[in-house]
Amino acid sequence: MITLSNGEQVEFLTGSGALGFDGRGWWWEYPLRWLGILNPHEFTIVVKTLTLRPRKGNLRWYAPWRCVRLIPGGTVNAVGLTNPGVDWWIRACYPRMRRMGLQTVVSVYPESVEEAHAFADKLRPLHIAAIELNASCPNVEHCETDAVNHVYAIACALRGAGHPLIVKVGYDQPYVAIAQSLEGVAEAIHAINAVPWRLVFGDKPSPLARLGGGGVSGEPIRPFVREAVQRLRDATRLPIIAGGGIYTLHDLQELWELGARAFSIGTLFLRAPWKPNRLVRAWRTQQARQPQRQTVTNSAGKQSNG
Ligand SMILES: Cc1cc2nc3c(=O)[nH]c(=O)nc-3n(C[C@H](O)[C@H](O)[C@H](O)COP(=O)(O)O)c2cc1C
Repeated sequence: MITLSNGEQVEFLTGSGALGFDGRGWWWEYPLRWLGILNPHEFTIVVKTLTLRPRKGNLRWYAPWRCVRLIPGGTVNAVGLTNPGVDWWIRACYPRMRRMGLQTVVSVYPESVEEAHAFADKLRPLHIAAIELNASCPNVEHCETDAVNHVYAIACALRGAGHPLIVKVGYDQPYVAIAQSLEGVAEAIHAINAVPWRLVFGDKPSPLARLGGGGVSGEPIRPFVREAVQRLRDATRLPIIAGGGIYTLHDLQELWELGARAFSIGTLFLRAPWKPNRLVRAWRTQQARQPQRQTVTNSAGKQSNG
């Protein structure tokens, strides 16, 4: 569990994109929600990443498989940040999420410091738990020559919104240096985003080769997540949210022992949408039986074992 400076507590987050733009999930998940098998209220909902202006990307609602494919144990996607823009989200999704009482984190992708200021102005009046800076989409070109300074400057601008900031990093970035630069700016670091296909599978052809290969999620990226959490734990005091291939209690246990204090679940919603809520409940039951293991992490990044 991580307690943010505004008192909001986060423990299980949906990976951005897992339950769509408003926490109700994608259309094929609705029946499970109606039956109570998929309950968004047990998660902190991280909204699918928004850009300042609408972005076409590669996702078409009538043919999602064009840019999202199941692969053994996981998925590969090349959605490319398809979204109708932050103004649409504030108008169409935010009021519904408020009505539903969902704990909401807004994931954003500003392309420049100016855009980050514009995001901050738009998000400042909203009642949200936090902003997540998606600093790491594997499906858009990162042309910044100096990723650390670029992310730092954008993070500082987003802080102007007055909400706690989470920064989501990628394995293909200098994520340790980014995290170190963000101490005192961000309140948690989220590791990791989908991993570019070539880093996971080398020269093996991707089913999404025509879209640049895509980003891999799920079981194939587990070793990358474990490495990232361990390196972050050794190098920074920022609380860590771990995500990538979390399917089982064993995954949660391993990541906890490596130093993660909150978890995000993405691909499991796609592959077996009836499982994430069961997993959360099983973890909470296990934790309740072991009260000495409950660790509280505060926004300054200090951890105390109670
Ligand atoms: C179809 C799809 C769409 C995604 N969209 C986003 C996104 O908009 N923003 C983001 O930060 N991450 C996005 N992700 C990455 C996930 O949030 C998550 O970080 C990643 O898949 C690793 O976790 P997992 O193995 O549990 O899925 C997406 C992943 C998938 C499979």
